Amino acid sequence: MPKPMCVPLQLPEAFAQIPHYKILYPISSPIHPLPSIVPASVSPHQPLISVHAKREDHSSPLACAGNKYRKLEYIVPDILSDTPIYHYHENNPTPPGPLTGPATTLVTEGAIQSNHTVQVAALACKLGLKALILLHRGTGGGLRAAQDKEAFQRSGNVQINHILGAEVRVCEEGDPLACDATPLLDQLKASGENPYWIPGGASLHPLGGLGYARAAFEIAAQEEEMELGGSGQFDYVFVACGSGSTVGGLVAGFKMLERMDGKTRKVIGVLNSPTQPQDYHEERVLNFAKRAAVLIGLDAWDISIKDVRLDDRFVGSAYGVLDDQSKETLEIMARTEGMVLDPVYTAKVARGMMHWVKEGEFSSSGLNEINVLFIHTGGQAALGAYADVI
Ligand SMILES: Cc1ncc(COP(=O)(O)O)c(C=O)c1O
Repeated sequence: MPKPMCVPLQLPEAFAQIPHYKILYPISSPIHPLPSIVPASVSPHQPLISVHAKREDHSSPLACAGNKYRKLEYIVPDILSDTPIYHYHENNPTPPGPLTGPATTLVTEGAIQSNHTVQVAALACKLGLKALILLHRGTGGGLRAAQDKEAFQRSGNVQINHILGAEVRVCEEGDPLACDATPLLDQLKASGENPYWIPGGASLHPLGGLGYARAAFEIAAQEEEMELGGSGQFDYVFVACGSGSTVGGLVAGFKMLERMDGKTRKVIGVLNSPTQPQDYHEERVLNFAKRAAVLIGLDAWDISIKDVRLDDRFVGSAYGVLDDQSKETLEIMARTEGMVLDPVYTAKVARGMMHWVKEGEFSSSGLNEINVLFIHTGGQAALGAYADVI
């Protein structure tokens, strides 16, 4: 196992000055090899491939570590400020101006088995705040596909939200709060709370892309300590693309690094939902990447649509539904590497990444040796709700 790293990151000045509150461990989330993922016999015409995993599911001491804590590290300074400015709902056309004191309640939303909401609820505990979680029954197909719908709605992440003491409100399909929670935020204000809205997945938050721009620098620092063959860096980075700012932040961070060290690392965002077409996600990710890019010291036009690479072939039948091939991937990964994936995001990403490896889809890169990084973004707590399928 590689030794844990505690190397200070060499962030560019503009980036280093952005307020940041530590939620993750002071060491980098580990990167380790996945030797069993590479096919035993590679044809001489195919590049040599090595695959590693970066364990964002081991990144923080807070509950159910996953990719949201990294994003929240850049949002907490605003939450704790005396006059938070990014607390309003993203769909409200007239943001109401700063809160008149630090936040008292974190409010957010997600699907019934949302991992994001659990991380917000745990953060609220850590900061001594309340959490109000809106769970949408109509989002995705997980609940529809569940044989035991009652169990789906009380186990997995729902159970953990309750353990964390969050107030959970379940929204039916078509509930106006599913589009704009402003009336709820107004009600909380009227009752004396200072509510801070965090958009689903934290992606539409103006600071939501910074965490994964920082992760790009962490990965580059870890590469320095590893003995990677070929280019000596990760040439391809596979990660889930849901609400989009994980991919967007990585794209911005790696672009900044490209400016600094001349190395190109390609991020492949694997989509996990067929609800919206690929170009909808590309546009969103591009916007998140540009927004993060400007904050860390690049220009918006430094990032173009060519930097956004998404793959929609592994979405399955619906968001939150574990298809047979992703289920098989989850089992293979568990039974060969002893690593457990989640049923909604990382099983689909690993399936996509393994497809690229098996089918030699890197051939066009022109490289003889290719280093692949799979980012495990967490989410295993949802597995209990999928006990009737896996
Ligand atoms: C486990 C896990 N992986 C990946 C993602 C996708 O990240 P993003 O919403 O930033 O695209 C999520 C989002 O909820 C998640 O819970």
